[in-house]
Amino acid sequence: MGNDCYGLILAGGMGVRMGNAEKPKQYMELAGKPILLHTLEKMLVCPALDEVIVLCPRAWMKATEDLIRRALPSAGHVHVACGGDTRNETIMNGIAYVEEHFGLTEQTVVVTHDAVRPFVTHRILMENAALAREFGACDTVIPASDTIVESEDGNFISRIPDRRLMYQGQTPQSFRAALLRDEYGKLSEEEKGILTDACKILSMKGIPVRLVRGEVYNIKITFPSDLRMAEKLLGSEESGHAE
Ligand code: CTP
Repeated sequence: MGNDCYGLILAGGMGVRMGNAEKPKQYMELAGKPILLHTLEKMLVCPALDEVIVLCPRAWMKATEDLIRRALPSAGHVHVACGGDTRNETIMNGIAYVEEHFGLTEQTVVVTHDAVRPFVTHRILMENAALAREFGACDTVIPASDTIVESEDGNFISRIPDRRLMYQGQTPQSFRAALLRDEYGKLSEEEKGILTDACKILSMKGIPVRLVRGEVYNIKITFPSDLRMAEKLLGSEESGHAE
């Protein structure tokens, strides 16, 4: 009997902001290895996760399967499935895959993680699995280092919230799968367009979402400059992220 906890790697995006026409950024190399594989390796060694499902663009499914079988031939508990048109749809496809292949109970947890955040740690993953089980949902965050300025029109300040109360969202975001699926199912198409953050779907409804402490170096690779930063971070990861 496993933990009834599944890792969903969200790799269904096209990486438009990275500007690489050849391939989505999750397939670009970091220290000679696709970013997706760095992330997958972190998830695979996490004992809290029974199975890991990689959700990628339909056109990349075969290539992704080949990549994983070649690089990790003995990893039996990795699966490749099709992502969705939006990030939340990708998560829903992951939950549907878990339900179809392993069954879903009220207690089943999914730890959803961006394929392009290869510096996630063992602690972050373990805390996500435990706190999602205990509280129903959790979000990985770090305290905001810059003051956050809100502007309605992009020209003038509307509000400057107290920085001590502000956090920056990272991933993983983890949930009791049935809870998230049911709340997502209640949204109108318009709400789906606005509620692009999975945790927001729950917190908007007053459902508590527990915070998990992230790490400053748990960056998301979005732009070419992030890839250069990631190369540097990889060096410091090997020496224990000395600060
Ligand atoms: N993602 C996904 N399915 C989608 C869209 C995004 O699984 N339909 C994933 C991306 O692959 C990425 C993560 O969500 O790992 C974070 O999203 P982001 O950095 O915005 O990725 P992209 O959508 O690929 O980037 P861009 O917005 O520049 O196109």
